[in-house]
Amino acid sequence: MALKATNPTTTNAWGKLQAHFETIKSQHLKDLFNDDAERANDLTVKWDDFYADFSKNRITTETLDLLIELANEQDLKDAISKYFEGDIINATEGRAVLHTALRSPKDATVFVDGENVIPEIHEVKKKIENFTYSIVSGDHKGHTGKAITDVVNIGIGGSDLGPAMVVDSLQYYKNQLTTHFVSNVDGDHYQEVIKNLNPETTLFVIVSKTFTTQETLSNANSIRAWFLESQPQEAVSKHFVAVSTNIESVKAFGIDEENIFPMKDWVGGRFSLWSAVGLSISLALGYKHFESLLDGAHKMDEHFRTADFKENIPVISALLTVWYNNFFKAESEAIIPYTQYLNQFATYLQQGIMESNGKSVDRSGEKVNYQTGTLIWGEPGTNSQHAFFQLIHQGTKLIPTDFIGYVESLYGNKDHHDKLMSNYFAQTEALMNGKTEAEVLSELKGQSLSQDATSELLPFKVFEGNKPTTSLLIQKLTPESLGKLIAMYEHKIFVQGIIWNIYSYDQFGVELGKQLAKSILSELKEEDSAAIHDASTQNLLAFYKENC
Ligand code: F6P
Repeated sequence: MALKATNPTTTNAWGKLQAHFETIKSQHLKDLFNDDAERANDLTVKWDDFYADFSKNRITTETLDLLIELANEQDLKDAISKYFEGDIINATEGRAVLHTALRSPKDATVFVDGENVIPEIHEVKKKIENFTYSIVSGDHKGHTGKAITDVVNIGIGGSDLGPAMVVDSLQYYKNQLTTHFVSNVDGDHYQEVIKNLNPETTLFVIVSKTFTTQETLSNANSIRAWFLESQPQEAVSKHFVAVSTNIESVKAFGIDEENIFPMKDWVGGRFSLWSAVGLSISLALGYKHFESLLDGAHKMDEHFRTADFKENIPVISALLTVWYNNFFKAESEAIIPYTQYLNQFATYLQQGIMESNGKSVDRSGEKVNYQTGTLIWGEPGTNSQHAFFQLIHQGTKLIPTDFIGYVESLYGNKDHHDKLMSNYFAQTEALMNGKTEAEVLSELKGQSLSQDATSELLPFKVFEGNKPTTSLLIQKLTPESLGKLIAMYEHKIFVQGIIWNIYSYDQFGVELGKQLAKSILSELKEEDSAAIHDASTQNLLAFYKENC
């Protein structure tokens, strides 16, 4: 059954939210706290090892009720069932969206075309487990009899960002293997990665759902050619494996069937790290940690599927985006983890969120008359405080920000962790409270400035505050808690798409540039070209050709 397709702006709840917005828009968060002693408790959700404090957002409990009314009018509950049950909710590509099935237990049942997909998922998981064991233990030997020391993941987009982010984020849990990632078609990228590698002790994992992606196939071909400069053809089977849905093309590339880890077309690239695409994660961390990551995601799935919307972390989080995006007209959201380990987290989420919800046609095929996907950006704190926080504090734009912090650090240096977390707490407080004229004046008093100098300086030192933040406080960064966190954002993406009445699981927008690049490439390879371009592109091509 198809998803409901209603323009959200035509719902009753939207009208009520619009009216409610008029009463909220100029209220200061400080006043909202002063007016309601229970606010911090009422707008906080405690679930498992997650403490999600939404109270520093520019909402009241009434706002949340109205946003939930909007979700109900958009049939969110029904959409969630369809999502988990394998309905064809990726209608433009005619596919189910079942990354959730990848982390379901063995006894679950999820049907696609009348077939329960869970047994096959667990067969692939078993294959990943066995292969991981043989590589990590050293049982699997390279062609010359040496154990594998290095793993190179060759893939791009969802076939790179998820595994790369997870391996980097969980490096504390890594084994002895060194993991590398090659993604960009820029030849310098793969050259830099292979320059210090020994082909005799390296395993290459080619990851491409379609096995047609130019970047991945070019890198795989070039790396195989480099490998064959020193190794014989028969060594390929010991050093190259692949993950794909396109088994025939992988075989045509020269990879043995037993070295292929299959995936299904109902796994979207940007949601695929839970599938065989996560092979590099399993190799880098060991299968048990990979499984814990999946278990964590499954726990979040259950929370999302069953919790009342008022207590549902992904639902509230998504509704807040709608609130800021469509009523406050905020254009971007920042995601700031207070752990260096999550250095790649915002980059990873950029694909998930922006490739999914960067759409301007609704589920009825009509052009939308409201804003959809938000811009996502961020870097770990405290580094980001010394880079772009000035703009969040005193710039002209409203940037709702997620602060992700951990109660415990991994190495347990309490002194550093307290310093890190004091910044986490201080920033959300500063963003909310700002600094009034009176506060600035009393601060300046102590600096023996003249009256004139004080008045001149005053406006620059005042902070309006009232900047919204969500504080996620998690006990500890573990494979399981990271699984929960990633799944939380995945479900947030889904909810936003349902409310905005768009299809979140296709990505036709990235196709046009790819097609053009293909035809320009053939022009670059020929001496003359009859192709017609605009004057700017024509000049750029001519300049490139003359000078390269
Ligand atoms: O950028 C478009 C895209 O299709 C992504 O959605 C996907 O993750 C990436 O290309 C890589 O695709 P593949 O895994 O098929 O090589």
